[in-house]
Amino acid sequence: MDEILFHRYLIYSLFGLAGFVLVYSIFVPAPYGRYKRPWWSGPDLPSWLAWMLMELPQPVGFCICFALAEQQANLLALAFLSIWMFHYSYRTFIYPFLPRASSMALAVVAMGFVLNCAFSYANGRWLFSLGPSRDSSWFFDLRFILGLILFFSGWTLCTVSDAKLRRLRKSGEKGYQIPRGWAFRWVSSPNYLGELIMWLGWSLATWSLAGLAIAAISAANLIPRAWHNHRWYREKFPDYPPERKALVPFVF
Ligand SMILES: NC(=O)c1ccc[n+]([C@@H]2O[C@H](COP(=O)([O-])OP(=O)(O)OC[C@H]3O[C@@H](n4cnc5c(N)ncnc54)[C@H](OP(=O)(O)O)[C@@H]3O)[C@@H](O)[C@H]2O)c1
Repeated sequence: MDEILFHRYLIYSLFGLAGFVLVYSIFVPAPYGRYKRPWWSGPDLPSWLAWMLMELPQPVGFCICFALAEQQANLLALAFLSIWMFHYSYRTFIYPFLPRASSMALAVVAMGFVLNCAFSYANGRWLFSLGPSRDSSWFFDLRFILGLILFFSGWTLCTVSDAKLRRLRKSGEKGYQIPRGWAFRWVSSPNYLGELIMWLGWSLATWSLAGLAIAAISAANLIPRAWHNHRWYREKFPDYPPERKALVPFVF
């Protein structure tokens, strides 16, 4: 099978997987953090190792694709590489070392690892070798400009919200509290909203199905999880702000 065909089937499979994950996650939230279940656990990895291993294929795989590029490297290719590395350097080498109470089961890490290999291959090969060759005029395309704005706004919303959640605990604490202020005024999981906006931005800026596949699987994961989180907060805290929504302000 030639690589373009393989790449196309991989993208179709990722969209198929997104459908499955969406349905499954409505009934069973992924077993980490507050939904960690002992029967699932198997061997547990410390949080820093789990997150770093899980995310490692993203920066490494994307850089390999860049190094093996079959299209001539130009400023646009460098821009895509920089945007990807901006996010994944943080996610792989900084985020895992920020304080976090919970550990993660090896099975969850393994699934994330495989999925991230697929994402970095699909995006890296498409942008640098298999997809249409684009030049610097793409910098002035509305899709690129809007995509970039969405990507960095989403990244900021996600990163600041994650930081605010982590600050709810003093060192050594493991419990949960009601997050307040910032975008928590409107939704229970602004970090997930930011993540989704970010990947929508990436899909738009790259104008690729490979980018949209990340957005689809993230949505399949995070929309049901935001809904579970919201219900969990409401059950756990009788004084939980009633006007707050799960994920989308005033809507959902
Ligand atoms: N693209 C994707 O498909 C995808 C999938 C999953 C995650 N992510 C991203 O990865 C990051 C982390 O995701 P996550 O699911 O672990 O987020 P999360 O459940 O919101 O937790 C983030 C951190 O805050 C802590 N925390 C959450 N709520 C808290 C509360 N009410 N009181 C005190 N501490 C609280 C958590 O502790 P505990 O660990 O002890 O719960 C964890 O350390 C997010 O940016 C998310 O967008 C992306």
